[in-house]
Amino acid sequence: MSDNLLEVTDLTVRYVSSRSLVLNRPTSHITAVDKLSLTVPRGTSYGLVGESGSGKSSAGRALLRLEEIAGGQVVFDGQDITNLSGEPLRQLRRRMQMVFQDPIGSLNPRQRISTILTKPLRVQGSHDRRENLRRAGEALELVGLSKSVLDRWPHEFSGGQRQRIGIARAVVLNPELLVADEPVSALDVSVQAQIINLLLDIKAELNLTSLVIAHNLAVVRQLCETVGVMYLGSLAEEAPASQIFSTPAHPYTRALLSAAPIPDPHVEDQRERIVLEGDPPSPAQRHKGCKFVGRCALRQPTRCADEPPVLREIGPGHRVACHFAELLLDEQAAATAHLPSALVTPPPAV
Ligand SMILES: Nc1ncnc2c1ncn2[C@@H]1O[C@H](COP(=O)(O)OP(=O)(O)OP(=O)(O)O)[C@@H](O)[C@H]1O
Ligand code: SF4
Ligand SMILES: [Mg+2]
Repeated sequence: MSDNLLEVTDLTVRYVSSRSLVLNRPTSHITAVDKLSLTVPRGTSYGLVGESGSGKSSAGRALLRLEEIAGGQVVFDGQDITNLSGEPLRQLRRRMQMVFQDPIGSLNPRQRISTILTKPLRVQGSHDRRENLRRAGEALELVGLSKSVLDRWPHEFSGGQRQRIGIARAVVLNPELLVADEPVSALDVSVQAQIINLLLDIKAELNLTSLVIAHNLAVVRQLCETVGVMYLGSLAEEAPASQIFSTPAHPYTRALLSAAPIPDPHVEDQRERIVLEGDPPSPAQRHKGCKFVGRCALRQPTRCADEPPVLREIGPGHRVACHFAELLLDEQAAATAHLPSALVTPPPAV
């Protein structure tokens, strides 16, 4: 048995961006996920972060086989699932589940909680109603709700409670892999912490492996052992969570971290702010060199524009796609040597 539950190699996802008027044939595509490679060991959580449009959700859906894969390979529990179809794909779905961002839109308002929670069991061929209800009740208790809510409707619950129900639906089949796409970003800040704690409890209880997609770095810091920073469909940097926050080696990661708020006005006033120039370019745009070159304050003439940086290892488990990562780390070490520790600590928990 491999130590890795999920191994993704050069995953590519494309969407049609325009069609011919007459025959409705695709005339151009955008590459939303561009040769993404990552590995998630069993029982661990991997956090995928990046700006809106960087391809996080497309990657998450593609590796669950909910989105067409244009290239690359997805290996789940040692099995290549890239081209799986029919009954084997249906059976695989039981083992990998998704929690969605929108706890309101993702629950059908015309179905009782019992129907919503037993549907995955029925789809998987379990038609014993009593047994299905028992398992749905168990899943509700796991997420901190009473099984008495089975008879109620989604509109009777708050956003946080609905997200608990969404999580119960994802775990009712006892999956091995959970992909949580922005699981707390639609919730009030006070409720976010409760849902993060719930995800931590469930991970431990069910020995879940998870991919957590978020644009909020503080969320992945709490939930994940490893963090991957995505930019225009590819990884700019990947490292153990503590290292991403203490020693970011890619200028984009540094800028993302500098934008994360710290709830201490003194620290907020004094710490370095890196303002990213402009918006991310369109995924339709072709890049000869580094994709980040147009917004990078550290870009060097010629090389950055002409030569694409490869994702390379600069330390144990620390990969970065920047020609000048070592320079950045040296500069960072020199710049922070004289600062009080509060100014160089990672962003706080939610
Ligand atoms: N079904 C689709 N058809 C066409 N283009 C799409 C589709 N889904 C996503 N895209 C495009 O693919 C790119 C990546 O989108 P994706 O939703 O994966 O990004 P994201 O990182 O999840 O963004 P967000 O943080 O806003 O959720 C974007 O340019 C988006 O417009
Ligand atoms: S390779 Fe060049 S442009 Fe790209 S992130 Fe590094 S310094 Fe910036
Ligand atoms: Mg998304």
